[in-house]
Amino acid sequence: MTDEPYILVLYYSRHGHTRTLAGAIAQGIRAAGLQARIRSVPVLRDSGQSPASDRDLTCTLEDVEHCSGLALGSPTRFGHMAAAVQSFVESWSPLWLKGSLIDKPAVLFTSSQSAHGGQESTLLGMLPVLLHQGMLLLGLPYSEPPLQHSLQGGSPYGAGHIAQTGSTGLHRDERALAEALGRRLGRTALALRR
Ligand SMILES: Cc1cc2nc3c(=O)[nH]c(=O)nc-3n(C[C@H](O)[C@H](O)[C@H](O)COP(=O)(O)O)c2cc1C
Repeated sequence: MTDEPYILVLYYSRHGHTRTLAGAIAQGIRAAGLQARIRSVPVLRDSGQSPASDRDLTCTLEDVEHCSGLALGSPTRFGHMAAAVQSFVESWSPLWLKGSLIDKPAVLFTSSQSAHGGQESTLLGMLPVLLHQGMLLLGLPYSEPPLQHSLQGGSPYGAGHIAQTGSTGLHRDERALAEALGRRLGRTALALRR
């Protein structure tokens, strides 16, 4: 553990796709000059769900409280965030009471099976949670070239991956957008540092 400022890259992933996106966003954050702390949300008990890997530590409330910014990711589940993500953010009331996340920048990301399987509704459904915490939400501007032409994941609302191929590997457009989102988050967090 370090006292260095960091961006928290927080995700749930059962099959590894959302986790791969988290890694690309973390690369962008580091390219902007900030540390990225990658953590998975706690797994729900009795859900039969397991995390995609045990490579990342489980996030604590302290990880959330002391971050300089947040990237929050979930698989698309029936057009919505996964229950494990919803459950963890519902444990953030102490942070809400303290105002710990007010004026900190945040971005969103998701992975879905199909192109029209609900990425945008998932990202927009996660938005109010972070707005209630007082966070400053960032998206992707159309100056990012893949946004103009790509048929892959990623939108003005955040980074995305379409997992239809079965591979957890990102299409180059998805990677470019995820890294750009991480860089934008890192740059903004540095500019806002107080
Ligand atoms: C319960 C459940 C609901 C899902 N709902 C959707 C959906 O609405 N749209 C979609 O495209 N994919 C859906 N999927 C597929 C996942 O979004 C997709 O496989 C995703 O890439 C998984 O991410 P992960 O590898 O990080 O777990 C669903 C999967 C599960 C298990």
